[in-house]
Amino acid sequence: MSRSGILEQMREAKDRLCVALDVPKLAEAESLVRELHGSVGMFKIGLELYSAEGPRAVERVRELGGRVFLDLKLHDIPNTVARAARVLTRLGASFFNMHASGGSAMLRAAVDAVADEAVKAGVERPGVLGVTLLTSVPADVLHDELAVSRAVPDHVIALARLAQDCGLAGVVASAQEARMVRNACGVGFTIVTPGIRPRDAALADQRRVTTPAEALALGSDYIVVGRPILDAPDRAAACRAIVDELAGALQAA
Ligand code: C5P
Repeated sequence: MSRSGILEQMREAKDRLCVALDVPKLAEAESLVRELHGSVGMFKIGLELYSAEGPRAVERVRELGGRVFLDLKLHDIPNTVARAARVLTRLGASFFNMHASGGSAMLRAAVDAVADEAVKAGVERPGVLGVTLLTSVPADVLHDELAVSRAVPDHVIALARLAQDCGLAGVVASAQEARMVRNACGVGFTIVTPGIRPRDAALADQRRVTTPAEALALGSDYIVVGRPILDAPDRAAACRAIVDELAGALQAA
């Protein structure tokens, strides 16, 4: 491969890595973004940082040059979610998400609100992602507590199809479900996968994990990595190792 081809592949690999800013304070998030934004494509702001710092967290990551995936997992009546979606659209995140189990009226109201607000505010339209089934919900909880009788994979596929039918850009899913979702929803439907562990990393509370390269091979567009980077002695080096692995997977594809 030519040198420009290799550089292009490294850029694509970098763009596919999203680092979870799972920290309680904006100052910590800012230093992570300063340290890592040259080596990763996107930063995920979740409930902890957003609850502590609010929209300022999104603004600061963007000011420091990072793209943002706002992982707030909205789930409420259609009017409330649509109004929140308008506010989030104006913040300039590249993606934000909601529970697909909120149903078609909620999902459609949000997608319409995002499209309308992006034009009104003159901002790029964020991609709306659906959460299918949290990986923390096992089959017995789905069946016995939530009274859903279908099997986990069938449930995930049904919610991914619902999200797609309602105009969402994609879903957040475990990499182990990525191939099924890709087969059901086709190319062009974004699949974001957390639960990633480089081969030598600690599992912590994650169980159903895949390596970065496996996740891409299974159809992920973006991988979300938290602790294997945040807890590394050299965080930038940990990012570079993952990007190298992703570049290798892209080359093999
Ligand atoms: O530290 P770790 O790499 O496990 O972080 C993964 C990130 O992805 C966390 O922010 C976590 O909240 C999120 N996440 C997850 N599993 C899901 C959905 C989101 O681990 N099913």
